[in-house]
Amino acid sequence: MAAYSDHNNYFVREIEKHDGSVLKVNQCHMGDVGCVVWDAAIVLAKYLETKLFHDPSLGVNLWAGRRVVELGAGTGVVGLMAATLGAHVSVTDLEDLQSLLNINIQDNHTLIHNGSITAKVLKWGEDVSDFLPFPDYVLLADCIYYEQSIAPLTETLKQLAGPETCIICCYEQRTEGINPKVERQFFELLQQSFHWEEIPLSKQDQEFSSPDIHILHIQKNQRL
Ligand SMILES: C[S@@+](CC[C@H](N)C(=O)[O-])C[C@H]1O[C@@H](n2cnc3c(N)ncnc32)[C@H](O)[C@@H]1O
Repeated sequence: MAAYSDHNNYFVREIEKHDGSVLKVNQCHMGDVGCVVWDAAIVLAKYLETKLFHDPSLGVNLWAGRRVVELGAGTGVVGLMAATLGAHVSVTDLEDLQSLLNINIQDNHTLIHNGSITAKVLKWGEDVSDFLPFPDYVLLADCIYYEQSIAPLTETLKQLAGPETCIICCYEQRTEGINPKVERQFFELLQQSFHWEEIPLSKQDQEFSSPDIHILHIQKNQRL
């Protein structure tokens, strides 16, 4: 799509990492919801860098060598952060977002040393065999917003998550219009196959967090 492949249409969001390096994420002036960085994506990207996962002073890095799939990646900022921390990442979204994802991968490749990142099409509800065996982590930021996509999104989570997969879901709680209903529907469907724990603000990045943006760790229920 022209809007996502012409460099003149971009404006850049810079996200500074703890090591002082800077992710440069291209966004588009015009386009669908995926072509800008949403607040939940920044909160999740910065959460991936917290000491829970990554503490160089103790030699801890839970991202090193892990297989990660990001759903509804948009600009790809969350997956890019994981790749710079050493994970092997597939950033996925609809066909229209692939050129923007690839430009962001290209513009940040010098920050990726031991990890890797590839952009791929994954439409929720469709075949996930390209992403198996089960990844270690599935990441999603601001993907609970569209009534028609709730059932296919939940189906994709079911197909993609194995017993050991940790799904990290970050979403902004919105009170207007249909948003509360969409959220309720998502969690009703989710609880049929998954359980979750909410990460308190005290364990999130101290600067990039907000009471209306929630982070959940979600795991598949074990069959009895
Ligand atoms: C609100 S945007 C969030 C983008 C990015 N995660 C962020 O937070 O900046 C929602 C994303 O979900 C993607 N999306 C919506 N419906 C989808 C579907 N059926 N299959 C795959 N991706 C979808 C959109 O293309 C968009 O990139």
